[in-house]
Amino acid sequence: MDMCPYVLDRSGSDLHGENKNLRARGPVTRVEVHGGYTAWAVTGYEEAKQLLVDPRIAKNTKDNWPAFREGKVPQDWELYTWVAMDNMQTRDGAEHDRLRKLVAQAFTSRQVAKSRPIIEGIVHRLLDDLATVPAGEVVDIKGRYFYPLSTILVCDLLGIPEEDQAALLRVAAVNAKTTNTAEESEAILHQWDSALVRMVEAKRREPGDDLTTVIIKASEDDQAPLTDAEVVGSVHLLIGGGTETTANVLCHTVVDLLTHPDQLAAILSGEASWEAAWDEEIRKDGAVGSMPFRCALDDIEIGGVTIAKGDLVLINYAAAGRDPARYGDTADEFDITRADKSNLSFGYGRHRCLGPALATMEAMVALPALFERFPDLRLAVPAAELKPAATFIFNGYAEVPLLLRG
Ligand code: HEM
Repeated sequence: MDMCPYVLDRSGSDLHGENKNLRARGPVTRVEVHGGYTAWAVTGYEEAKQLLVDPRIAKNTKDNWPAFREGKVPQDWELYTWVAMDNMQTRDGAEHDRLRKLVAQAFTSRQVAKSRPIIEGIVHRLLDDLATVPAGEVVDIKGRYFYPLSTILVCDLLGIPEEDQAALLRVAAVNAKTTNTAEESEAILHQWDSALVRMVEAKRREPGDDLTTVIIKASEDDQAPLTDAEVVGSVHLLIGGGTETTANVLCHTVVDLLTHPDQLAAILSGEASWEAAWDEEIRKDGAVGSMPFRCALDDIEIGGVTIAKGDLVLINYAAAGRDPARYGDTADEFDITRADKSNLSFGYGRHRCLGPALATMEAMVALPALFERFPDLRLAVPAAELKPAATFIFNGYAEVPLLLRG
């Protein structure tokens, strides 16, 4: 049966509600995104898992999506950057390996263990700052704690000087929204590129002991030099991939713990672990909503439909994490005692996230420290009134207002 494409809510105002509607149409269903383009939304856990390792699915959409390849997609299309960016997220096979290997060694568990004192330092500085907030004053814990933590950390890894951080992060935050107008989207593309290009040029003049320098060095390699676009694109990906994501899951974890006091009490008494809460939150509210884009290299039959060669595919991670076919009737619930919390929220296959060890380390330092410093922490508004971030790509709150003291 041929159904009309489901028009995705570009503002991401109720991702999980929308996912229920999508799921009712089948595990793989046709959707319409910005600009009237259609894509296949994959909401089923099993179907997502299969497609994530299917060699007939490409991440390089730029060269494989006919409309883009033929120059028919305008530069002011709101999702243009997601297709056009040049980094491991938009490459396949050996080209992907080359860009990934370059930075992968910085994200191994062993390497990440070295970041612990840096994370502890940032966490304690941010908490000391929060401690100066007068009792009764509402604090947005995303903007004042989790977002700064993840961004200062990634900027530290990349060696981005403090004076450049604010400008880069402002553009990154706007890029994460999916409610920008065409003019805004085009402006972001230019601002973002020029801010990153300036940063990379400065780093070329003054190299440091950081990941940007590693990436720049590879651009000077005789065998397979990186292009300037790949250098900028790789830095872009690490900033975008490492900031909003971790901050989102940390916010979700705090909200779920504050609204499930019995589970919080079990953790604080040592009966349950912070790891269990983090793993459950990654499943229930992983940071990514729908990831743009993948593209079919051939016709693929899956979930009762045929994805045709050249079609766009959106893996809907937020839906897969709550697929009742995988997690049962309690899929929507936060339950740190759930026996099987394994999930796809960090991706699966060759493009699996590079950041799980780092994000988990941040969580394991930042969450206990927050609840220890502010034992009377509570939500300043009912959880049902928390506003989601204006995006269908990420799954997070716009802000999380809390009261720190009783
Ligand atoms: C809770 C936090 C995070 C979550 C839930 C998350 C989730 C994801 C997901 C779902 C993907 C796969 C995207 C796809 O479909 O292709 C991905 C890829 C990626 N993530 Fe993360 N991420 C997180 C944190 C981080 C951090 C901290 C970093 C680094 C600083 C990072 C760097 C990357 C990179 C580089 C990729 C691309 C991998 C590739 O294409 O080979 N992520 N992430």
